[in-house]
Amino acid sequence: MCGIVGYVGKRNAVPVLIEGLKRLEYRGYDSAGLAIIENNNLIVLKRKGKIIALQRELQKISLKTNIGIAHTRWATHGEPSDKNAHPHIDNSGKIAVVHNGIIENYRALRKFLESKGHEFSTETDTEVIAHLISEMLKETDDFEDATRLALLELEGTYGLGIINLEEPDRIYAARHGSPLLIGAGEGENIIASDATAVVRYTNRVIYLEEGEYAVIKANDFYIRNLQREFIEPKVEKISFSLQELEKGGYQHFMLKEIYEQPQTLKNAFLGRLVVEDGISRLNGLKPYHDLLANSERISITACGTSWHSALIGEYLIEELVRIPVEVEYASEFRYRSPILNEKTPVFVISQSGETADTLAALHEAKRHGAKVFGIVNCVGSTIARETDSGVYIHAGPEIGVASTKAFTSQVMVLSLISLMLGRMKGLPAEIGRKLTIELKQIPDKVQSILDHETKTGQIKEIAEIFKNHQNVLYLGRGFNFPVALEGALKLKEISYIHAEGYPAAEMKHGPIALIDNNMPVLFIATDDPLYKKIISNIEEVRTRGGRVIAVATEGNESIKELAEHVIYIPNTEHMFIPMLSVIPLQLLAYQIAVLRGCNIDQPRNLAKSVTVE
Ligand code: AGP
Repeated sequence: MCGIVGYVGKRNAVPVLIEGLKRLEYRGYDSAGLAIIENNNLIVLKRKGKIIALQRELQKISLKTNIGIAHTRWATHGEPSDKNAHPHIDNSGKIAVVHNGIIENYRALRKFLESKGHEFSTETDTEVIAHLISEMLKETDDFEDATRLALLELEGTYGLGIINLEEPDRIYAARHGSPLLIGAGEGENIIASDATAVVRYTNRVIYLEEGEYAVIKANDFYIRNLQREFIEPKVEKISFSLQELEKGGYQHFMLKEIYEQPQTLKNAFLGRLVVEDGISRLNGLKPYHDLLANSERISITACGTSWHSALIGEYLIEELVRIPVEVEYASEFRYRSPILNEKTPVFVISQSGETADTLAALHEAKRHGAKVFGIVNCVGSTIARETDSGVYIHAGPEIGVASTKAFTSQVMVLSLISLMLGRMKGLPAEIGRKLTIELKQIPDKVQSILDHETKTGQIKEIAEIFKNHQNVLYLGRGFNFPVALEGALKLKEISYIHAEGYPAAEMKHGPIALIDNNMPVLFIATDDPLYKKIISNIEEVRTRGGRVIAVATEGNESIKELAEHVIYIPNTEHMFIPMLSVIPLQLLAYQIAVLRGCNIDQPRNLAKSVTVE
């Protein structure tokens, strides 16, 4: 969850570290800090709050150095405070450590270190690492080896950046379960939790693998494993530009990302849809065609918004491929003795590619001998690299904590996978052609929803009316049920309004008790095989005084008699409707949160990449 950046090289490290932290702030934002070596002093500065608080401190002093490490935190052990912010130092004041992950055996280590005379000043798990390295220096004069010996004692997960006053020309980096990469520049090198922090300086990156550490100087670096064997660095290119990391004139990243969807949806199918043959080609899955064609069951696992797209994947595959699909929360997957074998392909969906629960589910699936395929956005992320293969969604960097464009692109990719599998298993070419044509029209239809809102501001007006409500119910059926879940999640995570999503008919089994004339109920009532059924559900809400907002298909005039507000969207194949019906819900959540003065891109308590269990 936390963000790490470290710099050694020809520039003043301080602005590089701050710029890097800002890029990584979406990973955690309850406190920030840095450690640098200047004129033979190890200087540590850290502040509770966003990076701006740290910047204000930096304005009071002038620091110039060529080496430093920095951190933006999402607290796990110890409340957000100046003291608990990273970096953490040992008692000699010579070793500084920034850490992303959780040291599970920190209590035992702390006890041991205290018995050896180390005095702790924070409540964090991370502080043990600085003290442990210092303790290991009693066994060896070699700082690298002391660090390695300390790493061998750690249980849990870590991405680490370490500097040592005695070696002011180098940074140590290590990785176990939390991502870390080296950006290789000319006369400078950077370490970071992800590539967004290095792309300004270089587009050449080396991802550390599990159990590897690196020693990095301005002009060179080497990588070793914990057995001290040297590892040949594998240099990869960053797949996005600096421009994609900017707001580009939008007030918030979330809004920018909502408006990017016509393009990101196109990117998801570009070069993959063959209309003449009514098929989709997904190169990553090609070597596994036999396995996929013969599979009798598919398992999908993910968290949060990605779990919602997994549910849509279930509906898509069952409808087009006619084989059973099981969707499981990744956080539950490994604790439920899943029934898997080498014949059951497992798909893991993750925007960030770093979600700890999803990664653990991936490992569990592999342990059962299953082939695991990723549906991932971040190129080179841990999940992308640890899966057997997969399909990138190519949505570009998603910075807003509330996932928007990644969701629609995941659904697009799941549509392509379903089409591919369906055609393998006997879906007629004619239907395939119809579906490919329809999929290609989705971006323009999304564009028309966005254009309508830009022109009329209708959703903004609805937001104004409902912004002070404390509860909202989202109801949908069939393919729109997961959309109802997603709409509710969007609202609660950025506006802090309590919202629940339900299959519309399930309402009468409990939630209906909540309905009175103060309860907004958002129905997704598009033209599909369940339309008449959902109209009955709307009547049930109206009878009890509930205030109905409906997302309906263009041309449906009659629904105006039932709903206080109707937001129209274009029609499409019922199974592709989530890519359209979710757009007004994203906009509504966004507008309500803006009106409530919430922090849109960095909602409280959340982080973009959830790298702890
Ligand atoms: C989405 O708006 C959320 N911030 C969250 O639910 C997210 O989808 C979840 O943490 C999974 O993340 P991933 O897709 O990066 O694995």
